[in-house]
Amino acid sequence: MRVGYARPLMQSVGVDQKSQLISAPFASSLNRRRFVSVSAQPAEAQADLTPDTGGMLVSRQEMRFDFGGARFRLPSDKQRLAWIFDQFLYGEVTGIQCGHWLYHAPTLEAAGFFARQAVEELSHVRQFLRIYDLIGARPGPAHRIIRLMATGAMGSTYAEHVATEMAVGEGLVLMIFYALIDTIEDERVVKILESAARQEERHVAFGERQTQRLVQANPRLRDYLLGLNLTSLLAMDRLARYIGKRLGQDHEVLRQIPAFLRRLTAVLEIRLQRMGVLEGSLAEIGALRKVWLIAKSYLRHWSSRLLPRPKLLTQTYLDDPSLK
Ligand SMILES: [Fe+2]
Ligand SMILES: [Fe+2]
Repeated sequence: MRVGYARPLMQSVGVDQKSQLISAPFASSLNRRRFVSVSAQPAEAQADLTPDTGGMLVSRQEMRFDFGGARFRLPSDKQRLAWIFDQFLYGEVTGIQCGHWLYHAPTLEAAGFFARQAVEELSHVRQFLRIYDLIGARPGPAHRIIRLMATGAMGSTYAEHVATEMAVGEGLVLMIFYALIDTIEDERVVKILESAARQEERHVAFGERQTQRLVQANPRLRDYLLGLNLTSLLAMDRLARYIGKRLGQDHEVLRQIPAFLRRLTAVLEIRLQRMGVLEGSLAEIGALRKVWLIAKSYLRHWSSRLLPRPKLLTQTYLDDPSLK
């Protein structure tokens, strides 16, 4: 069986599950009623329970880290913040990759989501440029690990994309958004980050829910997606050590990076468990098995690029769940 072959996997999802996949533009009257009831929730609940995705599997509260009142202060922290925003800016520009997944979307629901996501990611680019103006800095290049994680490791199948880039990748970015919201002193910058974070929550939720359903429909995806995501842990560890060296461990926020990294890892573990990708804990996976999982997953990642692509929506739209 071809792992990550998106179209047959989506077709194998049950009728009840299919109805849950329908997004706002293609929603049924049942979903529209759900939207009305969700809209009546308080603001915090709305952010974690978006009507068209079912909400994040890991809540905002679970993703938050207590920095104990430590702050980035301007103008003294301008260079440190500029370096952090250089990494974010690169990630936001990779929003153009949505174009690839819009073209290769397995359902009209997914296509609608990626079209909206592309607009949101590109608006985040403009919002980050506004932040540079506010802190009095100019954009610079991103670190090579960020470039590798954001573009070099771009998913080669739909399952890879929703699991590694949207759920796990954007989930990690979202935790850093929250960390900056909680530590930057300048309220104008925080306001911009808050509005972008709410949209990122939708991206993460979509990736989590889609991954969860794909794994339920095909449990053989589990090890494949786990192996790919284990490399995120290695990359995070490497990046955290670099940040400590590059930005200074004496800083009141940055000296907490080792503890924050442990929290990132714990949340990643919870996310993988709730999506059904990880059974048990990461600690239970021995070093040799980790190496084996990573090697096997990357072999599939590279070889799947050589296989024929799933059919496009122009060939399959009449069978789309939203048209049933
Ligand atoms: Fe974004
Ligand atoms: Fe995003």
